Amino acid sequence: MHSLELGGWSLEKTNMHYIETERGRFIFEVCKQVLTPDEYMELYAAVGWSPFPREQVVTALINSNFTVCVKDGQKAVGMGRTVGDGAYMYAILDVAVSPDYQGKGIGRLIIDNILKYIKETVPYGYHVCAHLISTENKEGFYEKFGFGKKPGNGMGHGMMALVIGEKE
Ligand SMILES: CC(C)(COP(=O)(O)OP(=O)(O)OC[C@H]1O[C@@H](n2cnc3c(N)ncnc32)[C@H](O)[C@@H]1OP(=O)(O)O)[C@@H](O)C(=O)NCCC(=O)NCCS
Repeated sequence: MHSLELGGWSLEKTNMHYIETERGRFIFEVCKQVLTPDEYMELYAAVGWSPFPREQVVTALINSNFTVCVKDGQKAVGMGRTVGDGAYMYAILDVAVSPDYQGKGIGRLIIDNILKYIKETVPYGYHVCAHLISTENKEGFYEKFGFGKKPGNGMGHGMMALVIGEKE
């Protein structure tokens, strides 16, 4: 990733990010806290996941501590979000990059921005566990950012269960 001067106007001072790959040069915008339910559902489906009902998506986004959406012009091409307690636990969720845009550094922009949000939110010196469940064969992507597989390092398996809501 490099900075780009446009007529003396540095992209580093904006939300715009200049990415140069062997396949060309790209400029993307990183938008924080503005991921819409439509963008979320579109990206969710684009990577082959079965979307939750819209009502559930709306509540999930409202209750997320931080969302990040990467845009190519007006088009949302990547997203991620985190939910946490502000003290020692954050879950990183729904990291997805539209297939046509994968391999260009957008996933890295998403994770970098989520980790930056956590570091800038939690008081100095606090130790925070960032959790996530990787999709199959994407563990290597997360390892780039310091995530370790479980079991390992004295920890057992990460576990999950489906819980059905009952509130009328
Ligand atoms: C996983 C995903 C988010 C990665 O996004 P991306 O924009 O393609 O990733 P980037 O181009 O930013 O890659 C960042 C780095 O991770 C590496 N990487 C990407 N995918 C990887 C994989 N599956 N295994 C190992 N390394 C991987 C890249 O080579 C790159 O390394 P480098 O910076 O050293 O060159 C994207 O492939 C995706 O949306 N997949 C479908 C949805 C999904 O499975 N999401 C994960 C949910 S848990």
